[in-house]
Amino acid sequence: MKKPLIDVKNLTVGYGTKIIQKDLTFSVNEKDIFVIMGGSGCGKSSLLRVLMGLLKPMRGQVLFEGTDFWKNPQNRQEILQSIGVMFQGGALWTSRTLAENIAIPIKQYTNLNDRQIYELARYKLSQVGLSGFEQYYPSEISGGMRKRAGIARALALDPRFVFLDEPSAGLDPVSSAKLDELILQLRDSLGMTILIVTHELASIFTVADNAIWLDAKTKTMLAQGSPQELVQNGPLVVQKFLKREAE
Ligand SMILES: Nc1ncnc2c1ncn2[C@@H]1O[C@H](COP(=O)(O)OP(=O)(O)OP(=O)(O)O)[C@@H](O)[C@H]1O
Ligand SMILES: [Mg+2]
Repeated sequence: MKKPLIDVKNLTVGYGTKIIQKDLTFSVNEKDIFVIMGGSGCGKSSLLRVLMGLLKPMRGQVLFEGTDFWKNPQNRQEILQSIGVMFQGGALWTSRTLAENIAIPIKQYTNLNDRQIYELARYKLSQVGLSGFEQYYPSEISGGMRKRAGIARALALDPRFVFLDEPSAGLDPVSSAKLDELILQLRDSLGMTILIVTHELASIFTVADNAIWLDAKTKTMLAQGSPQELVQNGPLVVQKFLKREAE
């Protein structure tokens, strides 16, 4: 049995009084690659925002190894620092080199000196296959490489959890497949627990151990399971999505 690290219980996500998703209950297991699926605008990024502490739950709980950082503010910083994030469209600073981009969070959260920070940034770039590109600007590398650099930045502080919001958006199928390989490698060799929002069917079937489907109409999750289970036995809307059939 895998150990659940994140437990979401009866969670309602929304803004002000507007409910976006309600009654979400699921667990993310240690070293799983967990995929959040659902139609455009259903609330996937909003759910990630709650999990990473940027948006307060309207109801319900998010527990990291049993601790709710909304209720236990003393644990908040420690938990949040264990999460590395690549935001949707997560752009790099265009006027900074790749090494400088990765150095930003390291500078902010550690007391390392410039030399140490540079070495760490170099190491993080090597972890995503970008050795030798430290001094390149984002405009000088391919879209796939920019995504990798974004992931390197998410890894800057050695997170236990990595949240990736549509990491392969806009990539060609080959670059997207390479990114999947990288994601699997982060889990397999670094032991990270990874949450991904994605619409890419090929990625979903390649990387996901477990997944949920957020439904825009009913504003709740309709299914949970591996893509292989859901494509066979999931609700019709999820089966259709996974089989790429029109509704
Ligand atoms: N800051 C905000 N204040 C109020 N409403 C918001 C805010 N951010 C998002 N929303 C609304 O929440 C809903 C869900 O948005 P969200 O970005 O979470 O969806 P999503 O599933 O990530 O969409 P996409 O597939 O386009 O990335 C949308 O109706 C959006 O308009
Ligand atoms: Mg989104």
